[in-house]
Amino acid sequence: MDFQDLDDYCIETTQSEPELLLELVEKTYSDMGYPNKLSGKTIGRTLKLLTRLKQPKRALEIGMFTGYSALSIAEGMPADGSLICCETNPRAIEFAQTFFDRSPHGHKITPIFGPALETIETLEGEFDLVFIDADKRNYLNYYEAVLPLVSSGGLIIIDNSIWQGRVLDPQENSDIAVNQLNRLIAQDNRVENVHLNVRDGLNLVVKH
Ligand SMILES: C[S@@+](CC[C@H](N)C(=O)[O-])C[C@H]1O[C@@H](n2cnc3c(N)ncnc32)[C@H](O)[C@@H]1O
Repeated sequence: MDFQDLDDYCIETTQSEPELLLELVEKTYSDMGYPNKLSGKTIGRTLKLLTRLKQPKRALEIGMFTGYSALSIAEGMPADGSLICCETNPRAIEFAQTFFDRSPHGHKITPIFGPALETIETLEGEFDLVFIDADKRNYLNYYEAVLPLVSSGGLIIIDNSIWQGRVLDPQENSDIAVNQLNRLIAQDNRVENVHLNVRDGLNLVVKH
């Protein structure tokens, strides 16, 4: 059995994202460096579906890039929902805002420029949904910083949680941090979780 073929099959049989997101992907690939930072269809549609189920009034994204995941989350949020996005790349914020301005869900999104740990210090809870997708070496720090701000029953979604398999033999700081976070969550009695081997890994965590 070829797992790449099965991945492709699942992508093909997942409903398409809206036209605007397809355009955002195309423009990210033509205009931005490291376009593969963008999470893509499987994660985007999963975020939209989980958000639609959760109906968060307030959500937080750590690592927005060109806004693909932010718009996917916003799509699933109620009309009066608000999503704060942390991002250090001003060009990515400017790029994303041009798409937020054209989306019926863009008004829900507020990008904040600056290192996420500094931004989080200025925020008050509660958040019903948090998506962690910034620099991997800070993953454990992001988790500990946001957990007190998450509502009871709130969902934390951690992307790239298998980090291209590097968690099995951690060498670099980023490998070590992602692995430490996964191991901590598995023993953390403040939360319950399920760690999914989807794309580059998705760790789904619900706060008690
Ligand atoms: C993997 S990309 C995010 C992809 C995006 N969530 C998506 O699915 O399209 C990670 C982003 O985190 C940003 N970033 C890196 N370090 C950061 C930090 N300390 N605080 C906030 N954002 C950071 C990077 O500039 C980059 O745009």
